[in-house]
Amino acid sequence: MLRPQSKKLRPLADLISLSGKIALITGAASGIGKAMAYRFAEAGATLELVDINEEQLKITCDELSKSGVRIGTHKVDLCEKSEIEQLWSELVGKEPDILVNNAGIYPMKDFLELDEAFLRKVMDLNLNAALWMCQNMIKARMKRGGVIINVASVEAVMPVKEDLVPYGLSKVGVIMLTRSLAAEYGRKGFRINALVPGGVLTPGTKNVAKEVLKLNVGIIQTGLEYRQRLPLGRLGEPDEIARMALVLASDLSSYVHGTLVAVDGGFLSA
Ligand SMILES: NC(=O)c1ccc[n+]([C@@H]2O[C@H](COP(=O)([O-])OP(=O)(O)OC[C@H]3O[C@@H](n4cnc5c(N)ncnc54)[C@H](O)[C@@H]3O)[C@@H](O)[C@H]2O)c1
Repeated sequence: MLRPQSKKLRPLADLISLSGKIALITGAASGIGKAMAYRFAEAGATLELVDINEEQLKITCDELSKSGVRIGTHKVDLCEKSEIEQLWSELVGKEPDILVNNAGIYPMKDFLELDEAFLRKVMDLNLNAALWMCQNMIKARMKRGGVIINVASVEAVMPVKEDLVPYGLSKVGVIMLTRSLAAEYGRKGFRINALVPGGVLTPGTKNVAKEVLKLNVGIIQTGLEYRQRLPLGRLGEPDEIARMALVLASDLSSYVHGTLVAVDGGFLSA
């Protein structure tokens, strides 16, 4: 076995371990967030799982509990700031070491038909909730620091699909939130990064695809163009995003800070 030149190098198993850490993941009842919960649990974390969908959250919790993971679940509508504040009051004494702002929606609407309610809902969940969660995390852990991972999207860098203006805007905000907080709080012990997933098959994307297929044949063309441009030639799996989240959450990435980590099958580089 290859051994380090210096005895000080920590073994890989130790670097990737989340043992003794508490990880809070939003949107953990489905898709990418659920996949993260599985990998973080495997790495030894205690989980605090947040979602608006109580039924699905319970299913995730029951599945994970079988392997002896310690889990707290919280039904929270992240669009409501008061519910976010209530969540953090419940977390006093068990403030997470790791926060993943993953919950997000990507509803489609013709730009010319956008209204305030539609725009507000997308911004409230995708951007404002991430902001309030970061503020609570930093306040709660000011003396100890921690890790924050915000989930952005390739749509924030390269708009591909039509009818996603609010979504792209919200995710650009997530990127700037990440970079601003990284610049400000790195020296205070926080390590903050953004994950930038490409197209991933999840219950969320499957539902959107079903809905738009009923109404809009243009989406088929967009889907084909997306795949044609993809160097890896296929959509991603939730676990492929979760594995990179684990790298960012763990000490494997102890010097990765304030950056955007694309997990997109090469989409943004093509
Ligand atoms: N799937 C993709 O192709 C893709 C690509 C790029 C970025 N992303 C981002 O990854 C994240 C996860 O996406 P996904 O595809 O796994 O989605 P998903 O729809 O499968 O899961 C999202 C979860 O968020 C929860 N949620 C929705 N509204 C909520 C609210 N108001 N309060 C609390 N929880 C709420 C849902 O109940 C669900 O469990 C999102 O931020 C999304 O924008 C996804």
